[in-house]
Amino acid sequence: MKAWLSRLHTDLVTVPSSPEELARFELSHALPDISCRIETDPSMGEGYHICRKSDGSFLISGGSTGILYGSYALIRSALCEKSMPDNLSSSPRYALRMINCWDNMDGTVERGYSGRSLFFEDGHFHYDPFRMRELGRLMASVGLNILCINNVNVHFPAQLLLEDYLPEAASLADLFRPFGVRLMFSIDYSQPMRHGISTADPLDPAVQEWWKGTAKRVYNAIPDLAGFLVKADSEGRPGPFTYGRNHAEGANMLADAVRPYGGKIVWRCFVYNCRQDWRDKTTDRPKAAWEHYAYLDGQFADNVILQIKHGPFDFQVREPLSPLLLGMKKTNLAMELQLAQEYTGHQIDIYTMIPMWRELFEELPAENIMSVAAVSNLGRDENYTGHPLAAVNFFTYGLLAWDPETDTTAAVAEWARLTYIIPAEDEKKLVNLLLSSRRVYEKYTAPLGIGWMVTPHDHYGPNPSGYEYDMWGTYHKASHDAIGIDRTASGTGYLNQYPEYIQKKYEDPGTCPDLYLLFYHRLPYTFRMKDGRTLIQRIYDDHFEGYYDVISMVETIHDLPFPNPDRDVIRERANRQLHNAKEWCDIINTFFHRLSGIEDEHGRIIYD
Ligand code: GCU
Repeated sequence: MKAWLSRLHTDLVTVPSSPEELARFELSHALPDISCRIETDPSMGEGYHICRKSDGSFLISGGSTGILYGSYALIRSALCEKSMPDNLSSSPRYALRMINCWDNMDGTVERGYSGRSLFFEDGHFHYDPFRMRELGRLMASVGLNILCINNVNVHFPAQLLLEDYLPEAASLADLFRPFGVRLMFSIDYSQPMRHGISTADPLDPAVQEWWKGTAKRVYNAIPDLAGFLVKADSEGRPGPFTYGRNHAEGANMLADAVRPYGGKIVWRCFVYNCRQDWRDKTTDRPKAAWEHYAYLDGQFADNVILQIKHGPFDFQVREPLSPLLLGMKKTNLAMELQLAQEYTGHQIDIYTMIPMWRELFEELPAENIMSVAAVSNLGRDENYTGHPLAAVNFFTYGLLAWDPETDTTAAVAEWARLTYIIPAEDEKKLVNLLLSSRRVYEKYTAPLGIGWMVTPHDHYGPNPSGYEYDMWGTYHKASHDAIGIDRTASGTGYLNQYPEYIQKKYEDPGTCPDLYLLFYHRLPYTFRMKDGRTLIQRIYDDHFEGYYDVISMVETIHDLPFPNPDRDVIRERANRQLHNAKEWCDIINTFFHRLSGIEDEHGRIIYD
């Protein structure tokens, strides 16, 4: 990340006053030999047009932020030595392109793998203005426009963000404004109860008045605040259910409060029973979001956006697209991704996400959602992302949020080219390594869509039964002869939540794509896969293969001429990934071997 920033050549020592001024600054410093003019056309909003004139100069026209995005697009193509555009019009597919930081005001970051918070420490705002400008620049350079600075789990004193900390929050918003980045705050649904109101019932007039008054104060301080992000009735957070109200009633009450200021309520749909009895076979966690929201389609105010995790569980290495993203045509939706590698290697293991995102976008008609959000992978580490190669996820997320049809290989190659100046052959090796990393990680971790074999709570490393007898609804039910849960019509009925063409694709284990097989079906270990292998053999093979792939990844990494300080960090983390991959391979294979008593056909070492 630092490397890409340094390619912009000049540190931003002063705060530019507007996106246009920033655009001029960036163009003149990054492309000193190319003459560029800018022309503001407010009707173009965030879109831009780049036109090459006969004298070789460029004209970038657009709305205020559009000019900025166009300038970065031109700079990126010049620094990548791609052919510069003659005539290029572009505008973002999604209105809100959000980063959700899970930063707590004590300075910790929930599921953060890149050091402490960039914004807070010790219960207070605490940031380096220079790094804030770098962050603004990073976001703008890939078209991201909304930054939610605090954790969706709003712990004290973050409740005071809308009150005591408002002046400081307003100063932070000032810093980000020239980058076209608007702030958003996570709020606590029960906040009125901190102010002598005995309830947080959304239909109670005193509650409604409190939120209206609060919104007025907040928007007075930060007129362009994007809105509030809400995690309600989820994993112990307060919400409308306490008062017998549904989530449309809850969200619409807040929407009324922010409407006069153009604010949005981004309402998360991560609602499920997190106190499930593992003996209870009638509850199937992936069904939960649909059950809570689908029947409310059409009842949400027009400034409410439902933010839905991309899969029905929780950011596993492979999950199907959430049925809710396909089924709520009369509601504004946002898809939520997670850049923080919570279940995907903690930014120790390499896991490039764009191949996964592309699969999701291919299943999701573009018009179904109006916005995208991603849980941040940034922190106070000097390189921002802990693992220098994890920066590819931040960068390519921006490109995809702008245009979900962005080509996967081209996006990763662009990041690699902008970040490291290395020989073409090495660059190719790096791009291939990044592109294959998701499949490699998937192979050595949980098999064929089953997920959840991670160490509980921490979520790094293997523990095949760690979540099996717990309350989180995440069971694989592996026995001596079979594994998985039948989620078809004959089982829990989860698959019925999808349109028919999707039901058809997955309902028959004989034709269900392998990688989703154990998400949808309970199957005997002797089940014959499409390629003729048994299920158990495929599990063994994938785990060995994933581990062997990591051995060669690590060799490649040690050969690649990364500059320091990145080289040392990358090598050190690669060695930890190798250790982790071996643990996963050996523990998962041993687990299944002990249960099934079936030998590996290739006689490789499995520990008993
Ligand atoms: C996961 C994660 C939590 C987080 C939650 C959420 O369960 O482990 O740390 O709070 O998702 O998305 O709200």
